[in-house]
Amino acid sequence: MALITLRQLLDHAAEYSYGVPAFNINNMEQGLAIMRAAASVDAPVIIQASRGARSYAGDIMLRNMIQALAEMFPDTPLCMHQDHGNDEATCLSAIRHGFTSVMMDGSLEADMKTPASYDYNLTITERVSRMAHWVGASVEGELGVLGSLETGEAAKEDGSGAEGKLEMDALLTDPDQAVDFVQKTKVDALAIACGTSHGAYKFSRKPTGDILAMDQIEAIHAKLPNTHLVMHGSSSVPQELQDIINEFGGDMPQTYGVPVAEIERGIRSGVRKVNIDTDCRMAMTGQFRKMATQSPSQFDPRKFLIPATDAMEALCKDRLERFGTAGNGAKLKAIPLDDMAKRYADGSLDPATS
Ligand code: G3H
Ligand code: 13P
Ligand code: ZN
Repeated sequence: MALITLRQLLDHAAEYSYGVPAFNINNMEQGLAIMRAAASVDAPVIIQASRGARSYAGDIMLRNMIQALAEMFPDTPLCMHQDHGNDEATCLSAIRHGFTSVMMDGSLEADMKTPASYDYNLTITERVSRMAHWVGASVEGELGVLGSLETGEAAKEDGSGAEGKLEMDALLTDPDQAVDFVQKTKVDALAIACGTSHGAYKFSRKPTGDILAMDQIEAIHAKLPNTHLVMHGSSSVPQELQDIINEFGGDMPQTYGVPVAEIERGIRSGVRKVNIDTDCRMAMTGQFRKMATQSPSQFDPRKFLIPATDAMEALCKDRLERFGTAGNGAKLKAIPLDDMAKRYADGSLDPATS
């Protein structure tokens, strides 16, 4: 099947009240794990590549891997998305390499460290949205800065994220401002800040409403019932994965992620895209460590990668089932980008903000 756009996929998810996980890709094994999981439960899926992934694998490799995955799994609707685009060039070059969707993250300036002004975010996101829509690609914007409500800081693990301490109001998306933002930028999906952050160290305890502000999502959804909301930093950092890593020589201090039940609650309140990278990394790393510890004489990388890929596949499958994505693949037939472009041009895909 031809790749599907984020907009088409999330419109379908909204119509049938499910959420779609967006898993990060850096290599072939992650791509296979995601697609095997999706195919096994007839789910559509979003694969996303960060700027880091694009420089790790290279655009040509990524583009060909995605084409190969689409060919290998012809019945699985697949959206290819740029994760955290930092400027126009990143977003447009992604589209040129076959991505059907981009995130323009204007919550931070292009250095991905400095919190941006509202005007900066509006201007750059509107510009990317206008250009992407000309060619039918979808756009996710972000309003509010990802970071911990416990510490006021963003995680530094992935080398991006706001620097310094942030005020509470910067870490929580304002519902009224969200309405203005969606209306002016015409984004297809809106990433919101609600106390989640990237990486494994999100919360120092099982999160309660004061540090994981699910009610903020509900307030945004009440004002923007027709806008697809996106939760970043949505790994659950499962205890069993922490335990496997630590049992086999790892050294991860006790930490807590976003409980899957809270994501399910978000899905009932307009969350349609759920970003998960850390859990996949942990699932694979646990198996690498186990193999290295239990079979120290082993030196065939495939012996490490097979159980690692299986563990990631199991994790992806679980999220596709829990989020209600499973069972929806066969219902979707990809709308070509040219047709999407026409729909943007005639205004029929304008965001409904009331
Ligand atoms: O945005 C966060 C994702 O986990 C990607 O991380 O930039 O290390 O590839 P990365
Ligand atoms: P996690 O680090 O919680 O997996 O979040 C990933 C993410 O938000 C990618 O954009
Ligand atoms: Zn993110």
